[in-house]
Amino acid sequence: MDNATLTLGNEVLELPMVVGSEGEKAVDIRKLRAGTGTITLDSGYGNTGSCESAITFIDGEKGILRHRGYSIEDLTANSTFTEVAYLLIYGELPSEEELATFEERLTHHSLLHEDMKKFFEGYPANAPPMSVLSTIVASLSAFYDESTQEDELELNVIRLIAKIKTIAAFAYKKSIGQPYIYPRNDLDYSSDFLHMMFAVPSEEYEVDPLVSKTLNRLMILHADHEQNCSTSTVRMVGSSGANLFGSISAGISALSGPLHGGANSAVIKMLNMIAEDGGNVDKYVELAKDKSSDFRLMGFGHRVYKNFDPRARVIKSSADAVLDQLGIDDPLLDIAKKLERVALEDEYFAARRLYPNVDFYSGILYRAMGIPTNMFTVMFALGRLPGWIAQWLEMKNDPGTRIYRPRQVYVGENGRSYVPIAERGVVSAG
Ligand code: CMC
Repeated sequence: MDNATLTLGNEVLELPMVVGSEGEKAVDIRKLRAGTGTITLDSGYGNTGSCESAITFIDGEKGILRHRGYSIEDLTANSTFTEVAYLLIYGELPSEEELATFEERLTHHSLLHEDMKKFFEGYPANAPPMSVLSTIVASLSAFYDESTQEDELELNVIRLIAKIKTIAAFAYKKSIGQPYIYPRNDLDYSSDFLHMMFAVPSEEYEVDPLVSKTLNRLMILHADHEQNCSTSTVRMVGSSGANLFGSISAGISALSGPLHGGANSAVIKMLNMIAEDGGNVDKYVELAKDKSSDFRLMGFGHRVYKNFDPRARVIKSSADAVLDQLGIDDPLLDIAKKLERVALEDEYFAARRLYPNVDFYSGILYRAMGIPTNMFTVMFALGRLPGWIAQWLEMKNDPGTRIYRPRQVYVGENGRSYVPIAERGVVSAG
């Protein structure tokens, strides 16, 4: 493909073009500043490619999501979460033997060091589980230092996937004052998590296979989403040479915000609010359009998808069936469907191409599984973990990686002389 030509005043600059494997085009501006002293300004990075990546492809116009070439619909219909984790991290679907070894390793590293249990005791009972998750994940680096041994990083990848579900379940048990339930080696990944969440020592607890299967699918749907806020955070932290656990911990914090992973619990809060207000959906659609109010339709809109989010389509298509089979009649599902219908018919949402995203229906399924609202974003983190790891490893192994260090356009005061305190006027009431 031809170079791009940029005219800056009298200067004409040839900039190389990069074309991805799906025909995505980018102008390579890396030499722009050195040649001209000019940078690009792109607040929120909506138009900036921060890396070349072979992991996930999204076509936001067409509503396509693929991991390593496999469509999300194909993967959710035929695969398991651990298989997708393997695919993301190692680049190919595993053979039977490779998957068995991978799962066996995940099973055998799922215990937490007994000393780590004490950490949970220090948190208040009402600590947000995402805060607990991010800090405990960060503290894994104090136990498993990957800078000391050659193969420690490879093992830390396994440890992290194996232990994160134990950490998440312990955080929940701590928050409700129940004893921790240890991982079981005879259960698959999602069943083991559900067992640690819901079993109590005094009773027999059988994991419902439908709930386990639903969780498995939800985790696949969240497994990666290219350079979103939390993944870019993971890469950014890692680009300084920081360790895997610290980088992932930062990603968990980024995910917790209501504009990102925190939207799934915000959706349920919003649907509850609408239900308590008599189910008046139109009122809230109007409010979301009102620029003088802060209210937004949570679970609606996406930076990249300007068409239906394919993940939301998969969740919506299974929500009715799963609730039916579990014998649950959730009035919030009816409100969600009505809200979606009214919003999609509205000119405001159509003009801005705002569609339901993955978070719009996922909370309804988490609720049906008995997962409390404050754990929803933790569920997202469990699902996203393999994607974060794959992206971090790709960043680390790419010889072209440099420390992430954006520029800025400075708009503050020009250089001036220090004013002694006695000569300063009062400039603010602070
Ligand atoms: N409700 C009402 N208006 C909206 C919404 C919404 N949910 N989302 C975007 N808009 C409007 C926005 O006000 C703006 O209007 P205008 O052009 O008149 O100023 C226009 O649509 C473009 O919005 P934006 O904020 O510039 O878009 P963005 O790409 O910066 O933000 C978003 C994307 C996902 C943060 C945003 O759509 C949003 O806040 N959605 C609600 C939160 C949510 O559901 N987040 C989960 C995202 S998907 C899961 C994940 O990856 O975490």
